[in-house]
Amino acid sequence: GVTTMNLHCHKCALVTSSSHVLGKKAGHDIDHTECVIRMNDAPTLGYEEDVGNRTTLRVVAHASVFRVIRRPNEFLHRADSNPMIIFWGPPNKFGKDSKGTLYRLIQRVSMTYRNLSCFSIAPSKMRKFDSLFLRETGRDRQKSHSWLSTGWFTMVIAIEICDNIEVYGMVSPSHCGKKPGSKKMPYHYYKPRGPDECVTYVQNESGKRGNHHRFITEKQVFARWAKHYNISFTHPTW
Ligand SMILES: *[C@@H]1O[C@H](CO)[C@@H](O)[C@H](O)[C@H]1NC(C)=O
Ligand SMILES: *[C@@H]1O[C@H](CO)[C@@H](O)[C@H](O)[C@H]1NC(C)=O
Ligand SMILES: *[C@@H]1O[C@H](CO)[C@@H](O)[C@H](O)[C@H]1NC(C)=O
Ligand SMILES: *[C@@H]1O[C@H](CO)[C@@H](O)[C@H](O)[C@H]1NC(C)=O
Repeated sequence: GVTTMNLHCHKCALVTSSSHVLGKKAGHDIDHTECVIRMNDAPTLGYEEDVGNRTTLRVVAHASVFRVIRRPNEFLHRADSNPMIIFWGPPNKFGKDSKGTLYRLIQRVSMTYRNLSCFSIAPSKMRKFDSLFLRETGRDRQKSHSWLSTGWFTMVIAIEICDNIEVYGMVSPSHCGKKPGSKKMPYHYYKPRGPDECVTYVQNESGKRGNHHRFITEKQVFARWAKHYNISFTHPTW
């Protein structure tokens, strides 16, 4: 892989992994966008009609690295001719100095798949994501026992790369606060029997013991950013 990323796109489709993308048949629109951004191991195979079949950039959490690498046909070949992957994770897992298994694994992948450019977020940059969280939410990430989500990293990276972002399948911050008993929606479109999205969001948001994702807080920040940057939300629209 290369050491610095210089991808720039006028228009990006940020395809979330939420089941809200299902049945909307947005695949054609997504594929006709200059750059298509996906997260973790979200597949396109079998879901093309709804999520499209192109991938320009994948943002992958340390916990999903093995799932992506284990299925190269799905995640590495089914992509644009020069796709990129950005890996993020705690410095002890990814740092060059850690000589961690993940670091070596990613090196091997970028040597095997010559067209693929692999990047990992440097420890200093990871700290910047934390300060951004503090600045935007008033909460210290570590003291508030929060974990940033892949969605957070992906949105920040997309804002850096893209002049205009169309987000597919992301609900608004108030969505899960609406009347209970609304229709169950799987958290991931590729896991129909997996956990419910709102249950996952609400439980994580209020989780105190141990570390939790603050999916709803993050979306409140995205809603503010949408006003300053060129971000719009489709399926659902808000
Ligand atoms: C990808 O999508 C385009 C248009 O939606 C279609 O023409 C093409 O056959 C698809 N390719 C694969 C491999 O599914
Ligand atoms: C690798 O990139 C070259 C040049 O951009 C392209 O012609 C080729 O099809 C790509 N290979 C794969 C497997 O995508
Ligand atoms: C917003 O997006 C439109 C359409 O892609 C583009 O023409 C415009 O330059 C963008 N504005 C900014 C501030 O990037
Ligand atoms: C928090 O979200 C993660 C997904 O990132 C999920 O695996 C976990 O079960 C959730 N926790 C709770 C308490 O819902």
